[in-house]
Order: sequence, then structure tokens, then C-alpha cells
Amino acid sequence: MGNEISELIADVREQVLYMQELGVRTLDAEIALPTAAPTRETLRGVPASPEISNLGSEILNKQPEVTKPVDRPAAGSRLASLPSLSSRPKNAFFDKYNPQESVAKETLDDALVAAPIVDQKPIVGVPSIELFDTVPAMPEPTETIEAIRAEIGSECRRCKLSTLGRTKVVNSVGNFNADLMFVGEAPGADEDAQGEPFVGRAGQLLTDIIKAMGFERSEVFIGNMNRCRPPGNRAPEPDESVVCKPFLFREIAVVRPKVIVVLGATAAQNLLETKVPIGKLRGHFHDYLGTKVMPTFHPAYLLRDPHKKREVWEDMKMVRDYLAASI
Ligand code: URA
Repeated sequence: MGNEISELIADVREQVLYMQELGVRTLDAEIALPTAAPTRETLRGVPASPEISNLGSEILNKQPEVTKPVDRPAAGSRLASLPSLSSRPKNAFFDKYNPQESVAKETLDDALVAAPIVDQKPIVGVPSIELFDTVPAMPEPTETIEAIRAEIGSECRRCKLSTLGRTKVVNSVGNFNADLMFVGEAPGADEDAQGEPFVGRAGQLLTDIIKAMGFERSEVFIGNMNRCRPPGNRAPEPDESVVCKPFLFREIAVVRPKVIVVLGATAAQNLLETKVPIGKLRGHFHDYLGTKVMPTFHPAYLLRDPHKKREVWEDMKMVRDYLAASI
């Protein structure tokens, strides 16, 4: 019997890993939990004979001797590269398997053996069971834009850009309640001098684009991945971005826009955590913690290659139409 249980556990584990590999995140199923202890047969939907049910409850009522974890699949097999269920966080499928009590279950063995379902009434029609960890969501706003700015300070020295000729820390501007947000790379010379993002030639073009979409500049929120000007307008380096971008992410969580337009490769790749080129990213919506993200070419690039305006306008029409439909 011990062998059969081990086999069953290995079976279930393989099925779950396979579903995970297929990208299944939730399972909608009508589940009637057995009044008797679950057995190989009842778990598979085959009516259990009383004998087998009793054997099952014996095992469930006895302290588990579970010591040996189920072996990993053979090296090189389809499942070998998948994570072990025993290392999964505890909030997913097996914690929800028994909705009346959440039992700490470190392994699949624990989950099956520890589930105290013998005395439960059948539960029919559980609407949805999460098989795997939930998709990360935008954090709840617990602060204000002003508080974030105060924390950054006007003399920020968190990265080397503070020693490389920046004049001003350039904070985001606009409507703290905006549906639409634009995110650029880093301030240029004009922005560094005035302390406001997108006020140079590229900024003027961005303002025109915003107006062409039917908005005023003051209605949207405009920021940059980095708040200090890199020397010679080079792209911010990873060590500079890593300390600065969390402030922008916190602002996004406060403003909670419906759409974020990311301007240029650096901003888009930073927000979406990808190396895919901007030419491939643009033209369709991506996701950032449940918020729509539209990458497009940077206005400075449009100044160098005006033919690209057509693509940018296509992207902006998609954003405009999405916002119009989501009112
Ligand atoms: N380019 C950017 O990416 N941001 C600015 O603020 C100005 C130019």
C-alpha cells in the first residue's frame, strides 16, 4: 500500500508539473470531496470500495512516516528542469485544497496525508482553484508623491551621476491622478537646467504628441527612469538605474495610470525587464503589474528620423482608443 501511495503521489506531482509547464495557472473544477478518506480510487474519481476507504483512513489517521521525498524526474527528461513542489511557497493549490483549514504542508506528501478531510461534508462546485502562485499585482499605494520626492531629496547622491555634472534632480511632473503616463530615459541638458522632464526639443515634440492624442500636458504624468542627467546624454548605466528606478515604480503605484507609454529602448527595457529591441516591443500592449504598457520610439529619435512618426502615431492611437474605451 505504501508503494501505491508513493506512486500516486509521484503521479499527481507529475500531472501538476506538466500543467505548470503548459502554463496552466488556475483550474476550474467541480470537486466533491469524499466523506471517507481519499484513496487512489476516490482521487481518480473511481468509487472506492469500503475496504479501500478504510485503508485510506487508517493511513490518514496515523502519524505520517513521510521521510523520503519523491524522486526528481530523471536528468534530461521533460520534467527534470522544473522546480520541486516541495520548495514552492505555501499559498497555492495545496493550501487551498482544504478550504476549511490551512495546514502547513512542506511537501506534496504532507499535503495529501495531512489534509484532515475525513470528517468533512462533501464540498461541491469549488469555483476556481489556483494551481500556482498568483500574478504579481501593483502594490497598494501607502505614500504620496510628495513623500517620495522628499525621500529622494534635491541633493541625491545615490549614484555616480551626482558627481558627473548633473545640476538638478529632475522629478516627474503632471497630474498625480493621471490615466496616462509617459516615461523617458533621463534628463537632457534643458531638463537638467530647468529641473523639469521633457522641456527641450524632444520634450516639445512629446507635448505635441500628447495634444494630438487629445490631452493637455498637465493632464498626464511625465517622468524618467533616471532623475539625473548622464554626461553627454549617454544612456544611464545599470548601477545608476538600479538605485533610481524604484522611485519611479513607487510613483506609478501612487498614480496608478491605466496606460504607461515608455519612450525609447532604455526606458522600455528597464520597465519590462527585457532585452528585446524597441522596434519589436512597440506596436502592442505589454503588462506591468496589471497596467497596460505601450513602448514606442523616443521623441529624440523622431527628431533624427521623422519617418518613424507614423509608427509612433499608430502606437498612440492604440493608447488613445484603449483609454476612450476604458472610461
Ligand atoms: N529625454 C528623456 O528621456 N527624458 C527627458 O526628460 C528629456 C529627454
